[in-house]
Amino acid sequence: MTTRAARLRPGDPCAFVVFGAMGDLTKRKLLPALYNLQANGLLPRELAFLGVARRALDDAAFRDYAAAAARELGARPAAGGSAADFTACVHYVKGDFEEAGTYEALSAALAHAAKEHGTSGNAVFYLATPPGEFSAIVRGLAGAGLTRQDAGWRRVVVEKPFGHDLDSARALNRELSGVLDESQIYRIDHYLGKETVQNLMVFRFANGMFEPIWNRRYVDHVQLTVAEELGVEGRGAYYEEAGVVRDIVQNHMLQLLTLVAMEPPSTLAPEAVRNEKVKVLDAIRAMEPEQVLRDAVRGQYGAGEVAGKRVAAYRDEPGVSTTSQTETFAALKLVVDNWRWAGVPFYLRSGKRLARRDTQISIQFRRPPLLLFEEAGVEQIEPNRLDILVQPEEAISISMKAKRPGPGIVLEQVKLDFSYARFGPLPPATGYERLLHDVMMGDTELFHRADLVLASWRIVTPVLDVWSSLPARDFPSYESGTWGPAASFELLARDGRRWVNPG
Ligand SMILES: NC(=O)c1ccc[n+]([C@@H]2O[C@H](COP(=O)([O-])OP(=O)(O)OC[C@H]3O[C@@H](n4cnc5c(N)ncnc54)[C@H](OP(=O)(O)O)[C@@H]3O)[C@@H](O)[C@H]2O)c1
Repeated sequence: MTTRAARLRPGDPCAFVVFGAMGDLTKRKLLPALYNLQANGLLPRELAFLGVARRALDDAAFRDYAAAAARELGARPAAGGSAADFTACVHYVKGDFEEAGTYEALSAALAHAAKEHGTSGNAVFYLATPPGEFSAIVRGLAGAGLTRQDAGWRRVVVEKPFGHDLDSARALNRELSGVLDESQIYRIDHYLGKETVQNLMVFRFANGMFEPIWNRRYVDHVQLTVAEELGVEGRGAYYEEAGVVRDIVQNHMLQLLTLVAMEPPSTLAPEAVRNEKVKVLDAIRAMEPEQVLRDAVRGQYGAGEVAGKRVAAYRDEPGVSTTSQTETFAALKLVVDNWRWAGVPFYLRSGKRLARRDTQISIQFRRPPLLLFEEAGVEQIEPNRLDILVQPEEAISISMKAKRPGPGIVLEQVKLDFSYARFGPLPPATGYERLLHDVMMGDTELFHRADLVLASWRIVTPVLDVWSSLPARDFPSYESGTWGPAASFELLARDGRRWVNPG
């Protein structure tokens, strides 16, 4: 197996084709990430970037657009060259994704790119489009023979959301696997490109001291929080169809959970890692309807104050129904039925318009078995906690008790902290850099395999089903700028626990 260090070389020669080239994702993430990769010497010299969209543009106009996007979003100037180095390989293909002519034009552009840029016939097709277009594009590519790998590899990156529920995810998988081999499909989850998320594997498996205590004997419970201050930011119509479970829990949060809970893989080969992730998801007990009523909490934000500013209720956002039943907050108690985690609850919560933006994983250890400091007046000792902060700060800390200097025994909660800041300022990054490079290298580890996506839909679909059949009568159920509805606190209080509010 090739190690990641050995793979830190420019990606393989290829044409990088983006469907949805004038969209928000391409502008804010993909183009800046490619510029950043170039600055780090990780783009192949033999690269062509082909943007496909329906607006009338030519290569020159699209090049200006691409260069402006990179400048505006703070991508790094290219080392040993200029932004122009990358821009020189940028081309534009005009066309509607639903029309066969688009794929004929793309086919011609790919042949031209192979000659002009030496792409060796390899191609990445990145579907940066509304999910309703995924099937049409893949059919169009296959119809034009562009998914065949007889003269170079062909890989398709599929953005989230991957399906709307278990059945639609199955149907999309069937469509893709009808024309592509699983090894050609890269289902992307940009959370997995974040440094701290990548560091979770290193933290667990490169430090021998944690593995012996990483189980039900020492861990009391695990909390995962993905909190946002933002509301729906003009994407009300999209959010009405999604809600927080589809938008965050089904993909990002269950991925974080797999990294915390999976067994050590036997190697870092992508399939070995992905096998372990699927095993953990398969071990999560699917909720029966009565469990949903007990162990799943939903909420929707009302008006309130966030970061000193008055903000509107969800139902008053543009594109949102005034009687909307969409959840902007969810908290779940999940149970992982395996030997390592039996009896250790995993509490997940995510919401919009919460008190602070914070993504955090907290591993709460059990209390010491014997309280030795009663005589010194210490009646209870807070158990040790390991916090992994994913964003906005990237840090890991362990809270523990220490004796405050002075006469007598006074215990104080202290933190052992490791912050990414110790590596100095991190270079600007969108979080997509590693993932785009991995696609060019053919490394699938951080991408979701078909069975993994289905396993995560299997976990959340019963919750969504119960919620859609029983309208919430208490919406809006939390004030913007708080930590969510009271029922979320009750979910833990019932078990004698409480949320670790970040900060
Ligand atoms: N934006 C993000 O930060 C973000 C983050 C994570 C995941 N994603 C996912 O990435 C995907 C793209 O998101 P986005 O925010 O970039 O969407 P977007 O801004 O709406 O961009 C989609 C682009 O696709 C084009 N398009 C749609 N139908 C077309 C058709 N039939 N023929 C040709 N062009 C067509 C649109 O063209 P027109 O402009 O001409 O309408 C638009 O430029 C979505 O699946 C989204 O869930 C986005």
